[in-house]
Amino acid sequence: MDFPFLFHMVDGDMKTALYPGTFDPVTNGHLDVLSRATRLFERVIVAVSDENSSKRTAFDTPTRVSLVEENLGPFSNASVEAFDGLLVDYARKRGATVLVRGLRAVSDFEYEFQMAQMNRHLDPELETIFLMPNEKYFYTSSQLIKQVHLYGNRETDDLVPPNVLEALRGLSRRENN
Ligand code: PNS
Repeated sequence: MDFPFLFHMVDGDMKTALYPGTFDPVTNGHLDVLSRATRLFERVIVAVSDENSSKRTAFDTPTRVSLVEENLGPFSNASVEAFDGLLVDYARKRGATVLVRGLRAVSDFEYEFQMAQMNRHLDPELETIFLMPNEKYFYTSSQLIKQVHLYGNRETDDLVPPNVLEALRGLSRRENN
């Protein structure tokens, strides 16, 4: 039995990680996971999905990318890009050997497990690792934050960075007009 993942680690091959997602919009939970990833890998690319066909996003792709980019100040080894097509192809193009995903409650598991298995099937060399955010973000999701905001509640304001808060206010104004 061999353990290619461990050999990659010993060879120092795990330099670039991708942190993919929809980031609609980025939350403090995402940034918490990103900060953990930047301590583990030499380079972390936040990969913002541009697949508009299957999911209708509240923010367009350039906005979702900017909202992440404006929060990269503390992470000198992180960058952000939009991607389309299959994640495994994009990872190969960028020389990434690891996918980082955040795992919060058990409810995330089924979806994440399916995705990790499919990506492994498509590219057995690409390893998915799961990082747990600080427990204060266990119930933070972009989806819920958008919903709560739309109804004018501000209880979630500490769960997103200031630029996202501003963008959410703009969104609520548009939706309510
Ligand atoms: O933040 P999300 O919405 O959970 O992220 C999902 C994402 C963007 C990582 C996933 O939909 C994805 O990888 N899309 C790219 C297309 C692809 O490779 N699909 C097969 C993955 S199993």
